[in-house]
Amino acid sequence: MRAVVVEEFGVLPRVQQVGEPVVGAGGVVVKVEATGLCRSDWHGWQGHDSDIVLPHVPGHELAGTIAAVGEGVRGWAVGDRVTTPFICACGVCEQCVEGNHQVCPHQLQPGFNYWGSFAEYVALPFAEVNLVRLPEGLDFDTAAGLGCRFATSFRAIHQVGRVEAGENVVVFGCGGVGLSAVMIAAALGARVIAVDTNPAALELARSYGAADVVHAGPEAVREILELTGGGARVTMDALGSNEIVQDALRALRPRGRHLQVGLLPAGVQLDVSRLIGQELEWLGSHGMAAHSYPEMLDLVASGNLRPQELITRTIGLDEVPGALDAMTAGTPAGVTVIRPQGITA
Ligand SMILES: NC(=O)c1ccc[n+]([C@@H]2O[C@H](COP(=O)([O-])OP(=O)(O)OC[C@H]3O[C@@H](n4cnc5c(N)ncnc54)[C@H](O)[C@@H]3O)[C@@H](O)[C@H]2O)c1
Ligand SMILES: [Zn+2]
Ligand SMILES: [Zn+2]
Repeated sequence: MRAVVVEEFGVLPRVQQVGEPVVGAGGVVVKVEATGLCRSDWHGWQGHDSDIVLPHVPGHELAGTIAAVGEGVRGWAVGDRVTTPFICACGVCEQCVEGNHQVCPHQLQPGFNYWGSFAEYVALPFAEVNLVRLPEGLDFDTAAGLGCRFATSFRAIHQVGRVEAGENVVVFGCGGVGLSAVMIAAALGARVIAVDTNPAALELARSYGAADVVHAGPEAVREILELTGGGARVTMDALGSNEIVQDALRALRPRGRHLQVGLLPAGVQLDVSRLIGQELEWLGSHGMAAHSYPEMLDLVASGNLRPQELITRTIGLDEVPGALDAMTAGTPAGVTVIRPQGITA
């Protein structure tokens, strides 16, 4: 099969012929129809993830059809249309039994712990725990985004951030995670302020429900304090940047909640005195468990959430190396979806 292969961190990957994945007991192999280009793929390619062993195939935000079913898997058959949380949880450990699959210590992530979905086929472990059946009307391109960024933002805003109608929510970084967060927070009735360096991303944020947009820069915090009348209830770092973290904490009102979704491989220094004195909450958020998908899928089916509108570009595997490379300098506005079976398939 064809796959995007990283042979050295930071060096342009190449599309190569590699062996197809073998189905494992309890798992499935999925024919990948669509897979999103997430900044976490870029982090992995840059060598920011210690789980990755070279040579490596990235890709973790995927949808497709089951091509092979492993021993012992009940309830799933060849041809079923599926997606999966990128965090494939074991389903039996203490965290999983308590429902917290997104922090399962035995989790396996395609595209990080083993070869991922920038390929014609991908293997998925613990199928009964993680597979999510796609409703009939949901196309593969849209469903791919539910494997990582849209679902991650759903959990961050709704479950971890506990965002309620009428609250001010400031989303810093309006790429795949951030635009999803804008749409989800607006659908919950929050008053959303979107922050980005890219005017085209801010334009999209407005169309997905942001009440105000702010250009990132030295004036951003002052503008947010004005727009919110003294500070936001919720901020979210949807890029992963020290500058954003500092701005976000300054933009919060006392007892505000900060959601950290963007990865910070170099770490960050927090003003802990301010966290204490203002009783600010620092909240990490990681993916979302498969059992939480029905609530999100219902909101998609009813049209309250419209992840299909986030997609602005569809590319084939051959364009992936160039697209990953371009992410070092910036991100084109909106979400890019890759079709490993070919762009006309
Ligand atoms: N916690 C999780 O479970 C999880 C899941 C998915 C992604 N992530 C991480 O979330 C982050 C975002 O991923 P993505 O795919 O949405 O990224 P992206 O590249 O699509 O979007 C980043 C956005 O940030 C904007 N930006 C750049 N500099 C900025 C600045 N100084 N201020 C404000 N905005 C700025 C860009 O213009 C772009 O719109 C990454 O770190 C990714 O690894 C985490
Ligand atoms: Zn991702
Ligand atoms: Zn587990």
